[in-house]
Amino acid sequence: MESITVNTHGSSYDVHIGEGAYHLFGTKYHEFIRSFDQVVVLTDETVASIHLDLLLQELKPIARQLSVKRIPAGEKAKTIENFYDCQTFLLEQNCTRKSVIVAFGGGACGDLAGFVASTFMRGIPFIQCPTTILAHDSAVGGKTAINHEDGKNMIGTFYQPAAVIYDVRVLTTLSEQEVRSGMAEVIKHALISNPDWLDELMGISSFDDMTMVELKRHLAYGIAVKAAIVEEDEREQSVRKYLNFGHTYGHAIEAAGGYGSITHGEAVMLGMVYELIASERFGNVQKGFTDQFIDYAKHLGYPFPTINRLPFVELLKYMEKDKKASFGAVQFALLDQVGKPFLQVIDADELERLDREFRDRVGETK
Ligand SMILES: NC(=O)c1ccc[n+]([C@@H]2O[C@H](COP(=O)([O-])OP(=O)(O)OC[C@H]3O[C@@H](n4cnc5c(N)ncnc54)[C@H](O)[C@@H]3O)[C@@H](O)[C@H]2O)c1
Ligand SMILES: [Zn+2]
Repeated sequence: MESITVNTHGSSYDVHIGEGAYHLFGTKYHEFIRSFDQVVVLTDETVASIHLDLLLQELKPIARQLSVKRIPAGEKAKTIENFYDCQTFLLEQNCTRKSVIVAFGGGACGDLAGFVASTFMRGIPFIQCPTTILAHDSAVGGKTAINHEDGKNMIGTFYQPAAVIYDVRVLTTLSEQEVRSGMAEVIKHALISNPDWLDELMGISSFDDMTMVELKRHLAYGIAVKAAIVEEDEREQSVRKYLNFGHTYGHAIEAAGGYGSITHGEAVMLGMVYELIASERFGNVQKGFTDQFIDYAKHLGYPFPTINRLPFVELLKYMEKDKKASFGAVQFALLDQVGKPFLQVIDADELERLDREFRDRVGETK
């Protein structure tokens, strides 16, 4: 079992990752769980149907009272209606300020559950039990959110979990697409932090070949990168913006394509290629490296043809609406080199030129 401590201004918590991590409920977290009048598990209905027993067999013997609220699977969870429905459930269960929420699902479930926890009676503790690879990222760092029909993640809070308990046994049931999505964020963490680790990741020719031991190690590295950045800049005033590498163009692809047609991580992979090309222009990334990276990403099955149905003007509209845009300029996290991120404002003309180059180059490479 590996543990990483995250120290933020208001709190300090541990992220535990390993096979059998849920056993920690009965050991390290036994007294903590006993200190609550109720434990409410908010869970993605798909995850619950496959894995809920694994969690409940640990929680049942120790919780004073335990209830389970199933929420719709995936992104559909993050609506104001589901938020309200969860609040109603907590009230109906007579939850109090001495109750705790356990989020059991991927990033969508974690984002909703965190937002519910941060607002119920002005805030009650919550524990993240992430069940996707992508959620190695979303479960750490304390961003919670639901979506508004005019924008994703537009309603939310910064609210740190009390612990993150990441039992990798549940990851074996993820679809190929969800593995690809999550691994894109792992690769992002390597790109912004560590050339040697990136070399190792670029040696993977199929995610199917990764052993659980290797996957766990990559996830622990990713969590450590995220934790270090969040500790330095919890509220995204400075270095936390580096985590947005690949996300400015990536979010535009996700939004313009319609959420659900491409996963978050897949869109981020396309965004990272665009932003590597921008990093050639504004930093010192070599063209040869980007081309090698494009071949790698294509070989792993990232869906580059998606771009063909998304005109630049559509993407620009979303980039200009990005939360990270300020005073009309679009700000990007780029790389001077692998492991050395920096921030760069780019104007619309340059964005269009880069967009043309991106389309040419992902069309050309094998
Ligand atoms: N808070 C943050 O810092 C942060 C960071 C990155 C992403 N996010 C958010 O995370 C969300 C994406 O998270 P995600 O990629 O985990 O997606 P998700 O939560 O939508 O899950 C993806 C799909 O996988 C299924 N699933 C989950 N775990 C499974 C398992 N173990 N076995 C089989 N199926 C499983 C889900 O039912 C769902 O259909 C987005 O809403 C994004 O905005 C938040
Ligand atoms: Zn992301």
